[in-house]
Amino acid sequence: MRVLVTGGAGYIGVLTVEELLLKGYKPVVFDSFYWGKEALQPYLDKIEIIEGDCRNSKDIIYALEGISAVIHLAGIVGEFACASNQKAHHTINVESTRTLVNCCTDPEFELVRDFIFASSCSVYGNVKGLYDEVTEETPTAPLSAYAYAKLKSEEIMFKRAEEIPHFHPTSLRLTTVFGWAPRPRLDLVTNLFAYNAWKNKKITIYGDGEQYRSLIHVRDIARALVETLATPRFIRSGKIFHLGEESNNKTVKEIAELVQLFLPDTEIEYIKDKPTDRRDYKINCYKLKNIVGWNAEYSVEDGIEELITKFENMGDIDWDSPNYRNSSFKYI
Ligand SMILES: NC(=O)c1ccc[n+]([C@@H]2O[C@H](COP(=O)([O-])OP(=O)(O)OC[C@H]3O[C@@H](n4cnc5c(N)ncnc54)[C@H](O)[C@@H]3O)[C@@H](O)[C@H]2O)c1
Repeated sequence: MRVLVTGGAGYIGVLTVEELLLKGYKPVVFDSFYWGKEALQPYLDKIEIIEGDCRNSKDIIYALEGISAVIHLAGIVGEFACASNQKAHHTINVESTRTLVNCCTDPEFELVRDFIFASSCSVYGNVKGLYDEVTEETPTAPLSAYAYAKLKSEEIMFKRAEEIPHFHPTSLRLTTVFGWAPRPRLDLVTNLFAYNAWKNKKITIYGDGEQYRSLIHVRDIARALVETLATPRFIRSGKIFHLGEESNNKTVKEIAELVQLFLPDTEIEYIKDKPTDRRDYKINCYKLKNIVGWNAEYSVEDGIEELITKFENMGDIDWDSPNYRNSSFKYI
């Protein structure tokens, strides 16, 4: 089964490609390679690579030749990256989903039936005082253009599924990812705290740090994407699942304190009056576990330990480069 992975050279994408190979699929990476191809180096003799832009239907129509399923990961990730790249954000995060879905279901071409989308729990915004925990039935209240685009993409693919009976999309709403991957990202809260503690012996928290984040290791994400694809269609078609782990629901303060356990010389500084990310929620993730049978394997502590070991052993790398931070990258 040839599976097209859009964004297959990214943080989550490379490990998804690795997981697909492990499970016997034939991954085809479709990517514009904002971060280069280097992270795919170990797999080059086992995968196909197509350089293209998800916003371009010509690129996609050629790439979909002989493809059985799509895992759609390409995107600009996070509130800050989207806010500082508004046009690229809209064209990539909304319009490319529309283009991909249309190309998968265009009656002129062979139907691509299976479509797994990486959405985000950011769609719930801030539920403090409203709900103790968030299930897939909790009303959405996006606080950012990024979160709104994820909802819009879900709407596009589920609406198309109503029109095309054999098109089977599934949305996985990811919690915040952490952990090491061959294309590292250091702008995610756990990874950033681990890096700042290791490099500067200091973690800075804006606000009081009491807001909850739900966290999940990047390898667990990759496995969940592939296990969801392998789940019978009647179980997952047209459905939304949270992708996370309840025991990894932590406040920002708790994440910093966990890092401090591994690097005890770390100072934790609070800057109370600086505006901060307002998302605050504890995500219930039992639906995916109960229905698909997937379970997380990594704790936040595992991820922090692994990150610190990598920083220690990777040699002379400029970790402050925008290549490791989507939030400061200029997208076109
Ligand atoms: N990392 C997280 O915490 C998180 C949380 C929730 C959802 N997600 C979603 O998971 C997906 C992957 O995120 P990531 O962390 O791996 O990001 P990433 O930036 O590491 O990877 C994204 C990949 O998409 C590619 N890409 C971007 N625009 C493209 C385009 N127009 N055409 C083709 N390729 C394009 C990039 O080159 C990159 O390789 C995104 O859709 C993101 O919104 C991530």
